[in-house]
Amino acid sequence: MNDAKRFHLAARMAHIEPFEVMEIQTLAREVEAQGRDVIHLEIGEPDFTTPRPIVEAAQRALESKPMFYTSALGLSELREAIAKFYRDRYRVDVPANRIIVTAGSSAALLLAFGVLLDPDDEVLLTDPSYPCNRHFVHTLGGVPRLIPVGPESRYQMNARIARRHWTSKTRIAMVATPSNPTGTMVTPEEIVDLAALAREKGATLLVDEIYHGLTYGLDARTALEAGDDIFVINSFSKYFQMTGWRLGWLVAPPRYVREIEKLAQNLFISPSSVAQHAALACFDPRTIEIVEERRRELDLRRRYLIPALESLGFRVPVVPDGAFYIYADSSPLAEDSFALARRILTEAGVAVTPGKDFGHHEPERHIRIAYTQPVARLEEAVARIGALLGRK
Ligand SMILES: Cc1ncc(COP(=O)(O)O)c(C=O)c1O
Repeated sequence: MNDAKRFHLAARMAHIEPFEVMEIQTLAREVEAQGRDVIHLEIGEPDFTTPRPIVEAAQRALESKPMFYTSALGLSELREAIAKFYRDRYRVDVPANRIIVTAGSSAALLLAFGVLLDPDDEVLLTDPSYPCNRHFVHTLGGVPRLIPVGPESRYQMNARIARRHWTSKTRIAMVATPSNPTGTMVTPEEIVDLAALAREKGATLLVDEIYHGLTYGLDARTALEAGDDIFVINSFSKYFQMTGWRLGWLVAPPRYVREIEKLAQNLFISPSSVAQHAALACFDPRTIEIVEERRRELDLRRRYLIPALESLGFRVPVVPDGAFYIYADSSPLAEDSFALARRILTEAGVAVTPGKDFGHHEPERHIRIAYTQPVARLEEAVARIGALLGRK
């Protein structure tokens, strides 16, 4: 049999698009291989390394604990520690037995969609939003319904918008607060209304809180205060700067926990043991001090970069309140943000992500800039882009 005949590809793969940011990163590495300096503002992780107390806890655990599989739901001490974090930080009582520790919030998303979606069920997502969401839905045979949102709703979905797009097939409405790529938040009142709508329709609200902790000026409130029928995902990746450790969690309504446990046992066996032991140190006051200091640093970067981008001719119609992204309207400068991102990379040595990654609603008008580098590097990036655009 010839090779072309042997190359069978599942039909679902027709829906899976490349993660554009990874392609930009590959191009950035090529530019670097030519000996040129690239300022990386494309990837969703800051330059901070994992806080010392977490690394030390991992080292101690490796020396003193057997690294066997843990329960598929995660180490009970860690589930208790997360429950305590909800009590201390949010004043919300979330029993540890509703918390499932996962391989990053990516696994939490897969588990949540896995227990909720039947083939052809629809998931309401904002457009723009984090690209993997729609691909998880496709992988499970569901249908992502991308709802175009813009500055008028702070790039977020609210109950009024969701109701307009609701169909008899809608099973989940999902929001991320703060959002990737826009950094904007959903208000607690909007969460209450979305939860009520989902209840009315016999469906589910899923809230991605992975950027909680990285908000500037106001502390986020968890959607868990709006009812115990809401699915919430979170992660150690962003606030605790543990992206590569692959650890997150899911808070599920009580009746789903056993079902999620079965799925997690089969898909993953258990989350990483060493990462879980390390994560126990996340809630140590010394770690909190470090990550809070870094939050202040990110805010400084945000405050520098927004006006600097505007001075270059980008528009930032809604000031982001969290995460570490600015979703800038590049249409005053170029018709095609993808071509602009490539030019900025190859000619100015600054890597940014074109809007294309985040959906189909005016992606050509936007680029996402991650303020994941120190202010001095951001200043250099602005100067280089300015020179390219003939502004400075
Ligand atoms: C909005 C959002 N959700 C989920 C994830 C997945 O993160 P992780 O699997 O590292 O927890 C990301 C990663 O960038 C994200 O931006």
